[in-house]
Amino acid sequence: MQDEGAQPPVYQAMLSPSGRRFAARADQPLLQSAAQAAFALASSCRNGTCRACLRPLHAGQVNYRIPWPGLLPEEKASGAWVLPCVAYPESDVMLGD
Ligand code: FES
Repeated sequence: MQDEGAQPPVYQAMLSPSGRRFAARADQPLLQSAAQAAFALASSCRNGTCRACLRPLHAGQVNYRIPWPGLLPEEKASGAWVLPCVAYPESDVMLGD
């Protein structure tokens, strides 16, 4: 049974190699969490189709709430790339900056 008053987890996101860090809420995309920390990551469509925000995912897990974000099948299968505009963290993550 889920606690109705429970807050979503907040993970740590780190940009590499700069080492910049920001809090990454599980209930919002990484791009939004970065923006709230005043880190403006490249983006355009913000809906997972244009790939402007594509960057390496060096560590951690993310999930997508849209059925097929603009990742190539091999990119999605590898887990080595992320679209922060539509990626929700499931753990601490390390992204390329
Ligand atoms: S901003 Fe277009 S895919 Fe992320």
